[in-house]
Amino acid sequence: MMIPLKPMILGAAALLLSGVALADGEKPVKDQDLGLAKNSVFDTPDPIVAPPAGLEPGENATVEPYAEGIPPTIPHEVNDYLPIRVDENACIECHVDPDLVGQSVEEGEPTPAPASHFTDLRRAPGTLTRELIGARYDCSQCHVPQAETAPLVENEIR
Ligand code: HEC
Ligand code: HEC
Repeated sequence: MMIPLKPMILGAAALLLSGVALADGEKPVKDQDLGLAKNSVFDTPDPIVAPPAGLEPGENATVEPYAEGIPPTIPHEVNDYLPIRVDENACIECHVDPDLVGQSVEEGEPTPAPASHFTDLRRAPGTLTRELIGARYDCSQCHVPQAETAPLVENEIR
């Protein structure tokens, strides 16, 4: 059955009008005003280039994570170690040693990766192994280098 065009247009106009009435005279919000990025969702902006805060490994103070269970930030430069590849992961050479799990080290020595990184939390959560678990291989997925940046949103978290 064909619906006559005129009543359809009238119906749509009525819907629009009622919508305007519901919004109580307020202006619609533009898509670029919704998120943190103040541009159109169709733009591909360049990421902010942030100068690294750290020096070579061994010359930096570590920072207490601001909450339990948060990956600590990397206090040293990482330019020489990224990107991490299947056959190349320098982070492991300095940080992953099953004999050092839970041990404290001298200042200037790499902090040993903790027990959670040797435990398959999905399949065998109670078993500490001597192998780095695959889900922890890509360190940069969770650990980010410290950098001098302005916060995107004002907050009290360090
Ligand atoms: C040449 C050895 C070396 C390499 C390679 C290295 N690190 Fe480090 N890392 C250190 C040392 C030493 C420290 C202690 C802080 C310092 O003196 O810089 C440290 C500190 C850290 C910390 C802070 C731990 C804490 O106690 O808060 C994290 C996280 C970290 N590194 C992650 C990484 C990641 C991820 C990579 C690879 C992208 C990496 N490191 C590569 C030696 C290294
Ligand atoms: C899935 C996220 C994730 C990945 C991937 C990951 N880590 Fe972590 N890492 C954490 C979290 C969360 C903590 C702090 C809580 C804990 O102890 O598990 C942590 C803690 C650490 C610490 C601090 C230990 C301490 O005693 O203070 C070091 C060093 C570290 N990770 C190194 C690494 C390295 C090197 C890799 C890559 C081989 C890596 N991590 C991969 C999440 C991750």
